[in-house]
Amino acid sequence: MKIVLVCAVLAVLATVSTSSIVKSPTSRASLYYGYVGPGDRLLNRTYVQKAAIPNTIQSQDVAYRGNITTRITAIQVVEIGYTQWATPWLIAGGIGGNNVTIRVQSARGYGYYYVIDIWGR
Ligand SMILES: *[C@@H]1O[C@H](CO)[C@@H](O)[C@H](O)[C@H]1NC(C)=O
Ligand SMILES: *[C@@H]1O[C@H](CO)[C@@H](O)[C@H](O)[C@H]1NC(C)=O
Ligand SMILES: *[C@@H]1O[C@H](CO)[C@@H](O)[C@H](O)[C@H]1NC(C)=O
Repeated sequence: MKIVLVCAVLAVLATVSTSSIVKSPTSRASLYYGYVGPGDRLLNRTYVQKAAIPNTIQSQDVAYRGNITTRITAIQVVEIGYTQWATPWLIAGGIGGNNVTIRVQSARGYGYYYVIDIWGR
């Protein structure tokens, strides 16, 4: 009887680990625009983090505004840690401009943790 139970537990463990391998994401919910060229520097780095709230979608906008001579060359919104299925996207400004606004939205019932880097000169 004990042996049967142990086998059953092992079978359950095997099933769980197999399905988690199958479902594990190949690409993360990160965003990359443009590229960092020589002479570019990090204009702003902002961390955004929200803890999960059950049955709730959370979002926030992160804006960077340069001065009149600022030229943004790259925008990197990179998820930190394990994926929480959130989505970042560009809602205003962007490459070649002097300002950018990124919206970060969580999946329902999840949080997020991102680092947003704005590169340019
Ligand atoms: C980056 O932007 C945030 C607002 O998003 C601001 O609080 C912070 O001072 C900025 N940092 C730099 C180095 O400009
Ligand atoms: C404008 O912003 C750039 C960075 O994009 C900075 O290097 C430069 O010193 C700023 N100019 C003025 C007048 O503040
Ligand atoms: C923001 O950048 C866009 C181009 O990316 C430009 O058309 C717009 O005038 C800028 N807004 C401000 C307030 O500078």
